Amino acid sequence: MQSNEIRSRFLKFFEARGHKIIPSASLIPENDPSVLFNTAGMQPLIPYLLGQKHSEGARLVNVQKCVRTQDIDEVGDNTHDTFFEMMGNWSLGDYFKEEAIKWSYEFLTSKEEGLGLDPKRLYITVFEGDENAPKDTEAFEIWQKYVPESRIYFMSAKTNWWSVGENGPCGADTEMFYDVTSEGLGDLTKEEYIKADQEQKVIEVWNDVFMEYEKKDGKVVGKLKQRNVDTGAGLERVLMAVQGKDNIFETDLFQPMIKIINNSINSNDEKAKRIVADHIRTSVFIIVDGVIPSNTARGYILRRLLRRAIRYANILGIDKIKIGELVDVVVDKYGPTYPNLIQNSENIREEILQEGNKFRRTLNNGLKEFEKGINPFILFTTYGFPIELIEELAKEKGVTIDRQDFDRKMKEHQDKSRTASAGMFKL
Ligand code: GLY
Repeated sequence: MQSNEIRSRFLKFFEARGHKIIPSASLIPENDPSVLFNTAGMQPLIPYLLGQKHSEGARLVNVQKCVRTQDIDEVGDNTHDTFFEMMGNWSLGDYFKEEAIKWSYEFLTSKEEGLGLDPKRLYITVFEGDENAPKDTEAFEIWQKYVPESRIYFMSAKTNWWSVGENGPCGADTEMFYDVTSEGLGDLTKEEYIKADQEQKVIEVWNDVFMEYEKKDGKVVGKLKQRNVDTGAGLERVLMAVQGKDNIFETDLFQPMIKIINNSINSNDEKAKRIVADHIRTSVFIIVDGVIPSNTARGYILRRLLRRAIRYANILGIDKIKIGELVDVVVDKYGPTYPNLIQNSENIREEILQEGNKFRRTLNNGLKEFEKGINPFILFTTYGFPIELIEELAKEKGVTIDRQDFDRKMKEHQDKSRTASAGMFKL
C-alpha cells in the first residue's frame, strides 16, 4: 500500500465514523506567534480544543503538514525527518477514550478499511500518573480488549504526556508502537520494550492524546471546559510499518529521491544521502507556503536547511542539476495530494537553485578558511555559513564554538550595519 492510499484510507475510515474531512492548514501558523511553523497537528486547532465551535462540527479528520527542526541533528537515523505529515482524528468535546482507542486499533489492523497490520506486532504505552493527573487505568482497561496485558506498559509523563509549548491544551496520551524487525520480537518485558524503542526496532506509529487539561506558563492549571481527543499518526512511520521497511527513506515517499541520489554520487555516506533528501523535501514545502531564504526567522530556517543540504550534497558529489531533479520528484510525488506544488513548481525550483548557487560560490573557500582556524564570525558574514552549520563542522573536529562570543560580535556588527533584524539567532 502506497502513501496516497494510506492518506485516503485514513480520511475515509474516520469520515465513515462521523468525522468531517478538513484540509491541511499552511505550515505557517495563522494565529500563533509563538512558533515559526506548525509542529503538530493540534497547532491550527488550538482555539477549538479550548472550546471555540468549529464550523465543521465536533469530529474532524485531517492530514496536517508539519515542520520540526528541533531534532535536525537526528536526521540521518531511521526515523527522524524535519517535515512530516500527521494524520489525525479529532474529537472536540465529543467522544473520548473508548472510541478513540477502538478506532485506532481497528484502523491499524483492519485489512478491509485500515492498514491490515499484524496485531501481534503491536505494543502499547499508557500514562502512569503524576501530580497533574491520575494513572490512566481507563485506557489500560480499554486496551486490554484488543492487546494482551503483557504488551501494555505504564510510562511516565516524559513520554506519555502531550502538549506544545508552555501554554494551551494538554493531556495524558496512549501510544502505539509497531515491531519493524524482520524476525519479530514476540513478548517483551517493559525493559525489553524500552530497549527495542531506543534501538528503533519498535517504532511509534500513533498516539491518542486525551486532551482535558490546560497548561499556563509551563504548569498544568486545571481541566479544560471540554474533553478532547487529538490523535497523531505520522505518515512516514506508518509507511515503514505497512511497507515492511526499517527506515523512512525506503518508503515510497522518499524512494524517488534516494534513487536519484544513488545514481549520482561518488560517496556512499548514508547519513549524507538522507540529510539531502530530507532537507530538500522540507524546503520544497516551506517555499510553497510562501517563505523565501533570508537571514531572519522562517527564512533563516529555510536558508539553514538548504545550505546544510548543499554542504552534504557537496560531500556526495551531487551537482546542481541533480538538486533540480530532486525538487522535481518531490513535486511529482506530492503533487496529487498538494496541487499547489504543481502550480508553483517553477518558483520552488528557482528559489532552491538560486540559494544553492549562492552558497556553492562560497562553500569551498569557506571550508578552506575553516581549516585554517575556526572564526565563526568570518564564516558567517563572509562565507554565508549558518552558525549551526559552523557548530556542526566544529563538533566534527571536536571543537566547541563559543556561541556567546559569536552572538556578541554579531550584535556589534548588526548595530553597526543595521542590516539584520533582531532575533535572528533565537532559533
Ligand atoms: N497527537 C499529538 C501529535 O503527535 O501530534
